[in-house]
Amino acid sequence: MSGHGDPIPMSSRACGPLSGVAEVPGDKSISHRALIFGAMAVGETRITGLLEGDDVLDTAKAMRALGATCTRTGEGEWSVHGVGVGGFSEPDQVIDCGNSGTGVRLIMGLVATSPFAVTFTGDGSLRKRPMGRITDPVALFGATSYGRSGGRLPLTLVGAEDPVPVEYTTPMPSAQVKSAVLLAGLNAPGKTVVVEKEKTRDHTERMLAGFGAEITTEDTPEGHKITLTGQPELTPQDVAVPRDPSSAAFPTCAALIVPGSDILVPGVSQNTTRNGIYTTLVEMGADITFENARIEGGEPVADLRVRFSELKGVEVPPERASSMIDEFPVLSVVAANATGKTVMRGVKELRVKESDRIDAMARGLEACGVTIEEDEDTLIVHGMGAGNVPGGGTCATHLDHRIAMSFMVLGMSAQKPVRIDDGTPIATSFPVFEPLMGGLGAKLTRDNS
Ligand code: S3P
Repeated sequence: MSGHGDPIPMSSRACGPLSGVAEVPGDKSISHRALIFGAMAVGETRITGLLEGDDVLDTAKAMRALGATCTRTGEGEWSVHGVGVGGFSEPDQVIDCGNSGTGVRLIMGLVATSPFAVTFTGDGSLRKRPMGRITDPVALFGATSYGRSGGRLPLTLVGAEDPVPVEYTTPMPSAQVKSAVLLAGLNAPGKTVVVEKEKTRDHTERMLAGFGAEITTEDTPEGHKITLTGQPELTPQDVAVPRDPSSAAFPTCAALIVPGSDILVPGVSQNTTRNGIYTTLVEMGADITFENARIEGGEPVADLRVRFSELKGVEVPPERASSMIDEFPVLSVVAANATGKTVMRGVKELRVKESDRIDAMARGLEACGVTIEEDEDTLIVHGMGAGNVPGGGTCATHLDHRIAMSFMVLGMSAQKPVRIDDGTPIATSFPVFEPLMGGLGAKLTRDNS
């Protein structure tokens, strides 16, 4: 299923207990970064477990357009020959990042301190998303940009000829913004400093250290402070991409709401900048055991045994939001199957994801008979108890993979099938979602085939 083709409506209907092993694909955030850092290291970086979803494949194309060699050598296995920090060349074509905010924002940072122009575009979702959050900080390095109103794509970025290092406090909790500034800082002399008031996913920092950059982190009264020394020589690495905890959340949440389910989800990241969903589910009363804690691909992971559970609504603390920012859509599906209210505050960043995720979830849940309250920064779901969600609605996915998968999970325990207008976006992050969920016992169908 490709995210770039005609829409494919899909339905999900109530199924029997889910059982089996859910081996979800590689982590999307780490996959983008493995290609990008490999492209900046001189010599061969070998990657295993790469997520071969549309978003990551678009980043591989972009690295090639900038002069690196990226070759697929097997399933999830890639070889990248990088050009060195400062070694990129001007692409002779527009860089199309498809649906990927992470791809375009990281690459904008990456080229902001290279002395040439790059024009970026993306699909209908990406062209609506704000890019000022990247063009503002990269201007401090000396880059200039010319985009559509509101800094939207298509946009041309002209990299700085003589970049200067930058000290920048991120105005919103965003790993993409933090990473773009650090990537720009790689080709600037001296020390680039990023301060974030709320800690966000730290894969860029971990991987920069792994590729040999000088990078330090400290907690200060102003926030979490990251200091990078520019113009390092990056050493190629063997990168084993761990499984994606955001993808793992879909089978996990499905098993929690389908009566009788009992599944194993191996190798789920317990990185504290990513695991807020699992903390929240346990607070709701989820029967999840965390087995075989270990390190895989530099990340702490555990195998999750997940069994159907009677859940209760909770209030998610706003300071946990960034560690589960991509999981609020599927949490709202779980919340609809819990008893009592689940309150999600401090979530306004959801409004500028692949879609306005507060609006998309609220409208789709309402279409399936669930009561919702929302404001700019809040989503409240009134739980109906497991098996009591009426379903029967058709939900608009707005080119958003996580909205599409969340409503497919909703249908697995709803009284009437849940339909989505388009399942193609699922391929951006979880290309094997249908066979994987089908293998556990879910009943998903494509409606126009
Ligand atoms: C990502 C950061 C998050 C997340 C996205 C992946 C990353 O976005 O939503 O799916 O890989 O850095 P923000 O940085 O905009 O919060």
